[in-house]
Amino acid sequence: MVQAATEADAARAVERDRLWRRLMEMGRIGGFTTEDGHEGVNRPCLSPLDREARRLLIGWAKAAGLAVAVDPAANLFLRLEGQDPSAAPVLTGSHMDTQPQGGRFDGIYGVLAGLEAVEAIIAAGVRPRRPIEVVAWTNEEGGRFAPGCTGSMSFTKAEPMETFDDIRDAEGIRYADALAEQLALEADLPSRPLGYVPHAYVEAHIEQGPRLEAEGKDIGVVTGIQGCRWFTVTVEGRTDHAGTTPLRLRKDAVQDAIRAIQALNALMHDPDDVLRFTVGSFRVKPDTSNSVAREVVFTIDFRHPDARVLRERGDAVAETVARAMTTCTARVHERFNAAPADFGPLVPDLVERAARDLGLSIIRMPSGAFHDAQFLSRICPTGMIFIPCRGGVSHHPSEYATPEACANGARVLARVLCDLAGV
Ligand code: GLV
Ligand code: MN
Ligand code: MN
Repeated sequence: MVQAATEADAARAVERDRLWRRLMEMGRIGGFTTEDGHEGVNRPCLSPLDREARRLLIGWAKAAGLAVAVDPAANLFLRLEGQDPSAAPVLTGSHMDTQPQGGRFDGIYGVLAGLEAVEAIIAAGVRPRRPIEVVAWTNEEGGRFAPGCTGSMSFTKAEPMETFDDIRDAEGIRYADALAEQLALEADLPSRPLGYVPHAYVEAHIEQGPRLEAEGKDIGVVTGIQGCRWFTVTVEGRTDHAGTTPLRLRKDAVQDAIRAIQALNALMHDPDDVLRFTVGSFRVKPDTSNSVAREVVFTIDFRHPDARVLRERGDAVAETVARAMTTCTARVHERFNAAPADFGPLVPDLVERAARDLGLSIIRMPSGAFHDAQFLSRICPTGMIFIPCRGGVSHHPSEYATPEACANGARVLARVLCDLAGV
């Protein structure tokens, strides 16, 4: 009697070297080498480089027999048909855009691990009942168009898609225009409506933190994602001559911005070091040595796993900034608010079981970084698979995961996709 292929066969069919080759090939699109020899990637979303990467992915997907489609948010879907084409698909994937000084794994690993898992499922002869789709979400990073996760927020209806239309990049290009250009250039691809309710979503990703490596574990079973709020603060003063204007007559935007950041540091103080507070961008106008600054725009990235802390301290940002002003005025604009996500038991338990069956060690852990999974978890059972990365480093050209770690994540993913899709 011929035995039906199983999820174990699918995991075995994962080809480590193919996955690695593809990661390295993708890493060349937008790739650069730093002075100290690290191979980073700068691949802004909806850019010509992003398009080139998508074309490469589409070529691989078509060669594997997957059906390709794009939605109005330019999310890209690669579909393995199920025995029951009308069943809600199991969805996996991540993003292809990077930070400006990004690495070769953040995001793209989850897309290529998804493709590898699906190819392994096909190669093993597994015929899943549900369709399985691999998705490349548009603009997860928010590096070019802030905030991030606009593709998954649009897909899940966390925000209406039009919310993001007028976001501009550093050159003043509107998100809606960049999206329209992208869709026009991919007009040869079948388009599909925005959004559906997947049966489940599972995303593979490098950990982007130090725990797995430090504890010598293979797989992070992600239980949820801490919440995150982004603000933009604009401090307005007046420009003046740096040599002649007495300090008492100035409206110096830099000085008041510094006072605001000091007050925010006090607001965000956390003796337990759980809270994350980052001012990652600080732009000064007119930005010359011998003029008093007329304007400062700085960003706040604030994260915490507890919804109450996120709400209370986040809601206090505007007042804290206002009170810190001595001569200038300030405006605070909130542009991202992702509530903490708790994945619940379903997908994390499958991830844990798959890892253990494969002889891999695990830790259950929350994610400090946000991911598209944060928004998918609002509409369907969701989970994530973390693999160790060197030194826990991410959002940096030295980001690195070993070929074996990458393959392990894809093996776990292949099993979980089979479990969820039914084989
Ligand atoms: C995602 O890139 C994040 O900043 O957490
Ligand atoms: Mn990512
Ligand atoms: Mn990232």
